[in-house]
Amino acid sequence: MSLSITLTVNAVPRTIALDDPRVTLLDLLRERLDLTGTKKGCDRGQCGACTVLVDGRRVNSCLALAVSLDGAEVLTIEGLAEGEVPHPVQAAFIEHDAFQCGFCTPGQIMSAVGLIREAQAGDDPERVREAMSGNLCRCGAYKGITEAVLEAQRRLAADAE
Ligand code: FES
Ligand code: FES
Repeated sequence: MSLSITLTVNAVPRTIALDDPRVTLLDLLRERLDLTGTKKGCDRGQCGACTVLVDGRRVNSCLALAVSLDGAEVLTIEGLAEGEVPHPVQAAFIEHDAFQCGFCTPGQIMSAVGLIREAQAGDDPERVREAMSGNLCRCGAYKGITEAVLEAQRRLAADAE
């Protein structure tokens, strides 16, 4: 049985036939759409490496069945920059050395973008750490990650004024 779904991925409408209704959004992105910036770490909802935004909300794409997302808008790390200009969160990660091996970084950045949109952490580093706690970093770059999130948040707030 083949199912067809429509997703808008990084602002591009896509109609995708699914041969298997059990395919996850993560596998769809990586294997069908060649969007390999979204990483597969644990594949069971524990590491956050696969974080993308679905209709503006942070989602572990390894836990989301693609078939359940018909009509959704998906934003991945590949859709964040404006051409050659990095998104403020990406720029802040670079400036604050918020990564080492980089494996967790796309998920961290997408989670940070979602967090800033949620506006739930304010400028409190503890609350940022708590709100980012679903994204693990085996390299332990947490200090830089927290600084980068706070910096990007300040910059985006200033740009909005
Ligand atoms: Fe999805 Fe780890 S790969 S949470
Ligand atoms: Fe290596 Fe986070 S930078 S896992």
